[in-house]
Amino acid sequence: MYYSDEIIEEVRSRNDIVDVIGSYVNLKKKGNSYSACCPFHHEKTPSFHVSRDKQMYHCFGCDAGGNVYTFLMEHENMTFPEALEALAERAGVKLPEKSMSPAAKQQNDLRTRIKEMNRLAAGYFHYLLKTERGKRALEYLKGRGLTDETITRFGLGYSDMYRDDLYKYLKNKGYKDEELKDSGLIRFDEKQGAADWFWNRVMYPIVDANNRVIGFGGRVMGDAKPKYINTQDTPIFDKSRNLYGLNYAKKSKRAGIIFCEGYMDVISMHQAGFDNAVASLGTALTPGQVNLVKRYTDRVYLAYDSDGAGTKAALRALEIFREFEIPARVISLKPYKDPDELIQAEGSDEFERRIEKAQSGIMFEIDILAGGYNQQDPQERTEFQKEAAKKLSVIADPLERNNYVESVARQYHIDSGFLKETVTQYGIAGSPHRTVFQLRESTGRRTEDLADSGLKTERLLLTWLINENSLFDALKGKISPDDFYEPVYHSIAEELFKQYEKEGKVMPAAILNHYQSKQEHDKAAFIMQQEFELEIAPEEKEKTITDLVRTVKERSILYQLDHAKGDLARTNELMLEKAQVQKLTISLKNK
Ligand code: UTP
Ligand code: MN
Repeated sequence: MYYSDEIIEEVRSRNDIVDVIGSYVNLKKKGNSYSACCPFHHEKTPSFHVSRDKQMYHCFGCDAGGNVYTFLMEHENMTFPEALEALAERAGVKLPEKSMSPAAKQQNDLRTRIKEMNRLAAGYFHYLLKTERGKRALEYLKGRGLTDETITRFGLGYSDMYRDDLYKYLKNKGYKDEELKDSGLIRFDEKQGAADWFWNRVMYPIVDANNRVIGFGGRVMGDAKPKYINTQDTPIFDKSRNLYGLNYAKKSKRAGIIFCEGYMDVISMHQAGFDNAVASLGTALTPGQVNLVKRYTDRVYLAYDSDGAGTKAALRALEIFREFEIPARVISLKPYKDPDELIQAEGSDEFERRIEKAQSGIMFEIDILAGGYNQQDPQERTEFQKEAAKKLSVIADPLERNNYVESVARQYHIDSGFLKETVTQYGIAGSPHRTVFQLRESTGRRTEDLADSGLKTERLLLTWLINENSLFDALKGKISPDDFYEPVYHSIAEELFKQYEKEGKVMPAAILNHYQSKQEHDKAAFIMQQEFELEIAPEEKEKTITDLVRTVKERSILYQLDHAKGDLARTNELMLEKAQVQKLTISLKNK
């Protein structure tokens, strides 16, 4: 269901953030804002602030921040539509009727029924586990070191020996053959009729990020093949867009998300206190899954099996994380095969140490690369060094790149000067210059890590504009949203200028509605929430703002120049503009 921007904004503006958050958290009034101990991380002194003026919250301890929607999404684990519906109801706003075609309605009903069937099946399997019939399965799970609490937490179960046990159970609840087939729980055979998909297996319900059972993995209790079978894709189950354990991991207070390969690894890690572990569902990691976690974290760890297949899978996963610009580290499990084995053998303290010692993705890749060459042979050694240089050349940030060059040089006894030179050569030949325009097109990309002080200037200028709306008039014609380079700042600037033009003031919380990814959201919230106190004399103020504008403008022109290479007319134009930047002044008189 798609809701219009107008309705989203209406619902937001009718729910005062202080009242909404106040019903979950004990807020104390303090000057203009309200504060409390942060509900998102553990703390003893309050660093969580809610502002009525801005209709936003921000925690200075853990950087959580946002508007009423974000709060419900993060605190109550709601999806955006769920938060919207809850707040609409709270404020008595009538949402537009869900208008659907008859076919869409039918499909929607089927999905609802399939969700119910999965929930019922999970309950039934779990019940069986506790009965005489599930005795062996329970023993199996206990034998693998799982506590009763863990078994309940993950809703583990047992599917019985009879070929149509679940089928009968669900038939009894009134479901028809056709929908049972669509649920993926039952299959129909021409000769033998209905049969359960899962049969005499330990059952792992797969739960989505919103706590709904969407499918199952089932494991044999011995060495038979296949070891696991999983639910096939159904109208509610898409393996490539869900992750096992994410319903818990997304609420974890631990840093980052740990990716592992197996169901059992996730369960074992959660039991050992690593409740930020997730796993793919019987397939290799997919971009859809990375897109999914992007909302919840800004860094990941890989705890893939230590064998050849696991290493290969890790290398592929690293490529995907790189595409999404999420920093990834690799946890070494050696000499154990997987996280479950390591924890069973060495306990959680050792795992914690392994996390601390995790290797950055690129160093891991270079390590694996090195293993493929005979370092004693000059020719092979040269080839290895060239390949390593190629890898290093794609690191965008010069400082970071240099640090990696130094480390690789040290570790593999390569002259760092030579390595640096080779890396630079590959950098020039291999990667086209990324300019401001390309960056802007790739929405959702992280560029803050470029650790560019210029970005601070952009941020400062935006914060100033939000806190002192009259500045918009003073800046008119001197700077435009297009001069903001960082993608999120650029889009914030666009919205702010647009709002001011239309309303004569800005509404920061409304802008937040646009940011769905957690990183972008937090970044935007950070700017909007900043209080701005200038302790400078009014004469100084003009000079400071002039400097800020000149810096932002100059950077923008430099990037455009870079882009205009070869276009002489455009280059001349930009050079002229650049000369004029130094003469640009901002006047705050009669403001
Ligand atoms: P593993 O073979 O590493 O199993 O498969 P595991 O998770 O360590 O399980 P235990 O410890 O032997 O019980 C890793 C994952 O690959 C998928 C499952 O998702 C499994 O958790 N898989 C594996 C299958 O889907 N089918 C299979 O036959 C085997
Ligand atoms: Mn295992």
